[in-house]
This record gives sequence, structure tokens and C-alpha cells, in this order.
Amino acid sequence: MASESSQTRMVGTLVCLMVLLVPGLAQNFTQLAHDYAPYLRFDQKEGDSDLCFPQDAAEYYGARMVGDWGRKCNTDYNSLVNGDVPTYWHAQTCGFHLHIAYWNFYGYNNDCDCCSGERNAWWEFIVIKVRDWELLPHLHEVRFGQKWGWYTRIPGHYETYDTTHPVAYVGKTNHGTYHDDGGTGTCCYYEDFRNTGSANKNLKTWMNLVELQEEGGEDWMSDPGTDLWSGIHAPTFRSDWDLCNLTGCTGSIFQVCETCGCHKCDIGEGPF
Ligand SMILES: *[C@@H]1O[C@H](CO)[C@@H](O)[C@H](O)[C@H]1NC(C)=O
Ligand SMILES: *[C@@H]1O[C@H](CO)[C@@H](O)[C@H](O)[C@H]1NC(C)=O
Repeated sequence: MASESSQTRMVGTLVCLMVLLVPGLAQNFTQLAHDYAPYLRFDQKEGDSDLCFPQDAAEYYGARMVGDWGRKCNTDYNSLVNGDVPTYWHAQTCGFHLHIAYWNFYGYNNDCDCCSGERNAWWEFIVIKVRDWELLPHLHEVRFGQKWGWYTRIPGHYETYDTTHPVAYVGKTNHGTYHDDGGTGTCCYYEDFRNTGSANKNLKTWMNLVELQEEGGEDWMSDPGTDLWSGIHAPTFRSDWDLCNLTGCTGSIFQVCETCGCHKCDIGEGPF
């Protein structure tokens, strides 16, 4: 037994040495963020008036800074196809795992029913867990965010595009991200429409990734205020900025109208 454990120790030491000494094994977070960036799929009606695609947060912030409080809704699908719209990301190592958060910004959310849910400025996120990031990085859990809540899916319980990119379906009006399509078109938690139809509108987020930085990044990233974002914080100042302190889901395990992320979560409400 003693020799087995000393063998294990030796292998462990060797692996550590390799990580330190073999430059090829030093992982490049920018590259990993690119490799595992989400593939977003939109409702066929997204881009019709008031049903907005993601947009550049810096442009929105700049307009608000100079007193332009008009509605900012990106209805131009070509801006996604051409890679003009950034997806914001940041990465954090949590033990053996690397967590990468991807954020998209929407200038306007339309009503999710006849008459409620509308607001300016909205952020939605997807967080992924790359297991064994140092030696054998591979995509594992994916955490989908929607309507102030979230839930986590394990491999096989979400779709992928080109093997490495998790697929997220985006709600038509409130822009939450879900592992599946469908919806019945109400404001209830899972019910925002995500009917992709034959239009196949999508965003390959890896075409335009911008790293979130608490300091030294774009101006808006270091602004702790909420005024220009109609009352919400930029991702850099949210409580879920610490990617090692996330939970698997929030809300009820029963499918109710209110927040019920835990109903579709594979890992429970413990640590992500
Ligand atoms: C990391 O990867 C990015 C994207 O592929 C590349 O542009 C950059 O040069 C790489 N950085 C290092 C230090 O290798
Ligand atoms: C971790 O998250 C919990 C709940 O989201 C929060 O109350 C707590 O302050 C966080 N801890 C740290 C160290 O950020």
C-alpha cells in the first residue's frame, strides 16, 4: 500500500512539474473562452420592432452618458452575422475547474405578456465549467440564467454546436437563456417564446468576445452605478461576479409561474 501511495505521489509530482515546465500545457484562458463560447439561438420573430437582439454595451452607455434616453433596440440581424455585437466574458479558476461567464447586453426588453415585463437595459449570462482545465480541459456543467434566476445542466442535458459550444435558446421578449426551445408566451419563468422556426437566427458568440475587467477595460465596466442601466448593475458589480461562489439553481423545484430554476436543474441548489 505504501508503495502505491508513493507512486501516486510521484505521478502527482511529475504532473505538477510538467504543468510548470512544458509551455504547451499552460492554458490560455482567452483561447478556452473562445473554444467553449455559447451558440445563441433566437426566436424567429426576434428583430421585429421592439424584439431586440443583443447589442454593444459601450455604445448604449455612451449614448446615456450624453443624455440620450431614447429606446435602444438592435433589430439588425446582420450585426450578429457580421460579428459586430460583443459578448462579454470573464474567467476564474476554482480548484481544478475553470469557470467562464458569458454576458450579453440588450438595450430593451419588451413586455412578456400583454402589458408587463418591459424595461430598458438588461443583462443575461451563461456560465460554463471547464473541468481539469490544466491538463485535459473539457466542457462540463452549463448554467443558464433567466429572469433573475438560473439553473444548471450536465453534458447530454443540453445541446452543443460544433462539439464544444453549448447551445442556448434566448427568450423572445425578456432574453433569458434556456437549454431548450418552446415556451407558451407568458411572463412565467420558462414561458418566454423561443420558436426558432426555419429562420435559424443565431449568434456565434466566439466571433466577438470582449473580456470584462474591473479596472482598465471599457469605461462602463468600472462604473459601479446603476443609473445609466435603468437600475441594474453592470456584471462587474453584481454579487455573482465571484464565479467560485455560484450555486446550481435558484427558486422552486416545482414548476410554478414564479422563479423555479431548480425545477430543471441537474445538480441541485448546492455549489456550481
Ligand atoms: C491566447 O489565445 C488567443 C486567441 O487564440 C491569442 O490571440 C493569444 O495570442 C494567445 N495568448 C498567448 C499568450 O498565447
Ligand atoms: C457567496 O454567495 C452568497 C449567496 O449568493 C453570499 O451571501 C455570500 O456573501 C457570498 N460570499 C462571498 C465570499 O462572496
